[in-house]
Amino acid sequence: MGYKIVVVGATGNVGREMLNILEERAFPIEQLAVLASRRSLGTEVSFGDKTLKTQDLDTFDFTGWDMALFAVGSEATKQYAPLAAKAGCVVIDNSSLYRYDADVPLIVPEVNPEAVHGYAKKNIIANPNCSTAQMVVALKPLHDRARIKRVVVSTYQSVSGAGKAGADELWDQTKAIYNPTDNKPPKVFSKQIAFNVIPHIDVFMDDGTTKEEWKMVAETKKIVDPKIKVTATCVRVPVFVGHSEAINIEFEDHLDEDEARDILRQAPGIMVIDKRENGGYVTPVECVGDFATFISRIRQDSTIDNGLNLWCVSDNLRKGAALNAVQIAELLGREVLKKG
Ligand SMILES: NC(=O)c1ccc[n+]([C@@H]2O[C@H](COP(=O)([O-])OP(=O)(O)OC[C@H]3O[C@@H](n4cnc5c(N)ncnc54)[C@H](OP(=O)(O)O)[C@@H]3O)[C@@H](O)[C@H]2O)c1
Repeated sequence: MGYKIVVVGATGNVGREMLNILEERAFPIEQLAVLASRRSLGTEVSFGDKTLKTQDLDTFDFTGWDMALFAVGSEATKQYAPLAAKAGCVVIDNSSLYRYDADVPLIVPEVNPEAVHGYAKKNIIANPNCSTAQMVVALKPLHDRARIKRVVVSTYQSVSGAGKAGADELWDQTKAIYNPTDNKPPKVFSKQIAFNVIPHIDVFMDDGTTKEEWKMVAETKKIVDPKIKVTATCVRVPVFVGHSEAINIEFEDHLDEDEARDILRQAPGIMVIDKRENGGYVTPVECVGDFATFISRIRQDSTIDNGLNLWCVSDNLRKGAALNAVQIAELLGREVLKKG
């Protein structure tokens, strides 16, 4: 006995990773369908040692399917997610379309699993932004102990966060650096990304922040606590996979760095690697393919009363998208559908 699962956007970065993770975690599957656009009709994708052919999302009938894991971007989600939901198939969506909808739960299973019961209003559950997901896994256990007042975060986000096209642009521009006649002007990013960093992700808002920065603020409030103040600077860096974050936290109560390290060691989804020596911390290339959110460089911020600094690294295609979506599917199965 298992679930009838649809992976929507199965040819994309997140979709392929969702297939890997469903298989790695032995998700109880009775039947699996893989969908993409008509362009990819018949394209083969791997699921363990099997090869599956993609079907066209536009003509797919979601009736009788239990859950659809969407990773197709907001526009296609807007068109197709309501059809799936209406057909009785619960949508778990990776786009930003439904994240701020009061009738749609926004879930990180280590942080707010109880929110799953709100899925029924629209038959849709939202997955957070990649930068938010890894940060709230780290914030929640510390908030439970010492109440967070304010977070100042700077991100170092990999190009795979901008889909296949983002990763291709870094690859092509990197090769072109050594062959200047093969000049590759930026298309996905607003400036050259190879050997550069760009302090601009998503569109600009009226107050000068970017939408990516706004998402970290709004999503942290919805998932952890509306009272937490967050200010973010989101930066794209020439790394293929793995987002990093330098996080400064101000608490209401005093929290010693050793106690914070112990709390994080015991927290779900977290791996603490924190030695004060060369290499005693995690960098993005080391987190690729892992389930954990890695925390390093935990230290007191002596410039404020109750402050801590830490370094947080995770695979953005996993905890930032595919893993979190599969964890939501597991949670929904365990708590609500109970077929597994
Ligand atoms: N990458 C990340 O770190 C990350 C993190 C969190 C959330 N997300 C979100 O996850 C979603 C997917 O991201 P990605 O990085 O996997 O993008 P991607 O690599 O560009 O893949 C996009 C996927 O969507 C499919 N698609 C696009 N338009 C479609 C349409 N009209 N009908 C059917 N299929 C369509 C594509 O199919 P074809 O191959 O047929 O074009 C492809 O399978 C986005 O909403 C993104 O914001 C991504």
